[in-house]
Amino acid sequence: MRSGKVYGKFRTGDGREVILRSPRWEDLDGMLSFATELVKERDVEPDFGVTLDTVPTRTEEARWLADRLASMEKGDTVGVVAEVDGRLVGNSEVFRKPLRDLQRHGTLGISVLKGYRDSGIGGEMMKALMKQCSEQGFKTLELEAFATNERALHLYEKVGFRRAGVIPKKIWRDGRSIDMVVMAAEL
Ligand SMILES: CC(C)(COP(=O)(O)OP(=O)(O)OC[C@H]1O[C@@H](n2cnc3c(N)ncnc32)[C@H](O)[C@@H]1OP(=O)(O)O)[C@@H](O)C(=O)NCCC(=O)NCCS
Repeated sequence: MRSGKVYGKFRTGDGREVILRSPRWEDLDGMLSFATELVKERDVEPDFGVTLDTVPTRTEEARWLADRLASMEKGDTVGVVAEVDGRLVGNSEVFRKPLRDLQRHGTLGISVLKGYRDSGIGGEMMKALMKQCSEQGFKTLELEAFATNERALHLYEKVGFRRAGVIPKKIWRDGRSIDMVVMAAEL
């Protein structure tokens, strides 16, 4: 998978042009501010469906991005980001574990920044990601979502994921537990 490859462009209902592409090294600062926004939101939103809780340093983020790009190059990770006016507003990936028995199976994660949600960006990212995964030989995907994350659950079902089960009380946050829904899709 080539870094920075453009998968598509579209306009949201309110006229913003969105570019869907694979991540590239130049995304480092964009990725860092993206992660910072998610951590901040997690701190104030009790049901926020992202578990990242520490802002990475630039060095940590650089190491993470370098690993991710190397894994993409090997075909073990598929990444799709969304860019609006030069800003990275969506990030998603599927990775496969380095085990022969799990060669055709991937685990998916996705987030879109506040202010850009409910405009169809997540849906288009999911479709692009699933198409790339299919082209790279993945046959099945899994993901997890908080049982309280109705928007995410709706979106995942809309693009073809089905509920495979629930891990009761998997999340423990601020003195309260939240169930985790496990979902799976065949490509
Ligand atoms: C979940 C997420 C990735 C979806 O991306 P998005 O760009 O908002 O998704 P879209 O705009 O393509 O689609 C959202 C859908 O949810 C629907 N929706 C919004 N709020 C909803 C709710 N409370 N209940 C049910 N559906 C809801 C929208 O109407 C839309 O569906 P439609 O296209 O059928 O009308 C994004 O909202 C996000 O990052 N949220 C915060 C972090 C997070 O939860 N990440 C996922 C962790 S599993």
